[in-house]
Amino acid sequence: MSSARNNKPVRKAVFPVAGLGTRFLPATKVLPKEILPLNDRPVIQHSWEEARAAGIEEFIFVSHPRKDILQKHFEAQPDLEKILEAGNKKEWLAAVRESTLPAEKLHVTYQPEPLGLGHAVWCAKGLVGDEPFAVILPDDVFIADKPCLAQMADIYNECGGNIVAVMEVAREETARYGVVDIKKDSGHLVDIKGLVEKPKPENAPSTLAVLGRYILQPEIFEHLEKGEKGAGGEIQLTDAMAKLIGVQPFHGYRFSGARYDCGTRAGFLEASIAFAMSDPEMKEEAESILKKIIDKNRTAA
Ligand code: G1P
Repeated sequence: MSSARNNKPVRKAVFPVAGLGTRFLPATKVLPKEILPLNDRPVIQHSWEEARAAGIEEFIFVSHPRKDILQKHFEAQPDLEKILEAGNKKEWLAAVRESTLPAEKLHVTYQPEPLGLGHAVWCAKGLVGDEPFAVILPDDVFIADKPCLAQMADIYNECGGNIVAVMEVAREETARYGVVDIKKDSGHLVDIKGLVEKPKPENAPSTLAVLGRYILQPEIFEHLEKGEKGAGGEIQLTDAMAKLIGVQPFHGYRFSGARYDCGTRAGFLEASIAFAMSDPEMKEEAESILKKIIDKNRTAA
């Protein structure tokens, strides 16, 4: 992520992936939910590709020892490559190699206890060091002409400071998100004066929700360090971010594109359909499969 205005470049991204995906049991009994496929690639690869497209050079997984297969996905697989090479399967070989990262680019640390998103990010402190960084929550996936984090990188080059992706949600949904208190709304860019984690609809300062893409300054760690508990008794990233407002530039960015929530079964299904439909190789088949199932169910009803 280059920087046009002397803002320190964002070179590292933190992926909090320690959650055990209990909503997806039994699918996640052995497999991490981030390894489940969305169309032709695992969820984690979608977010990794997004980070890479934004110029991120180092990838930090805050994980759980049960989920080591996640980093394995980004390691070379010589046996498999040999077989594909021997069979002259060039396309598949390229697909396997595309997601192979040199060891020094991928760092894994563990979150010893599920103490909240803020705590997960804090666990990456030593690996991030004293520089701005991105946080990517792989549950949130995007379909966009320009990937969401790359759009945010452009804004970062202009504004510096801290930037969060935001989206309008229905008022009855505010308790699922961090919600923005708006100082000045300029369309794509929103100047933020406050942030509240998971407010009840009647208490929400707006219906503008924070999504799982952040560009943050390292000073966030000073606030996370304190380990103060917030909504749900957890150490919340939102609360630490709120402390930076007024001290550093803090903007919300209404991205262009569509976002899907892979954190729920319904959202995962929606994302699967959307990704298949956005793939020229799959679009027609996906449409006809959906139509067939809907027609069949109608006839049966
Ligand atoms: C997290 C954040 C929340 C944010 C959301 C976006 O919540 O705490 O502020 O709005 O991600 O998906 P979670 O979904 O982990 O409960």
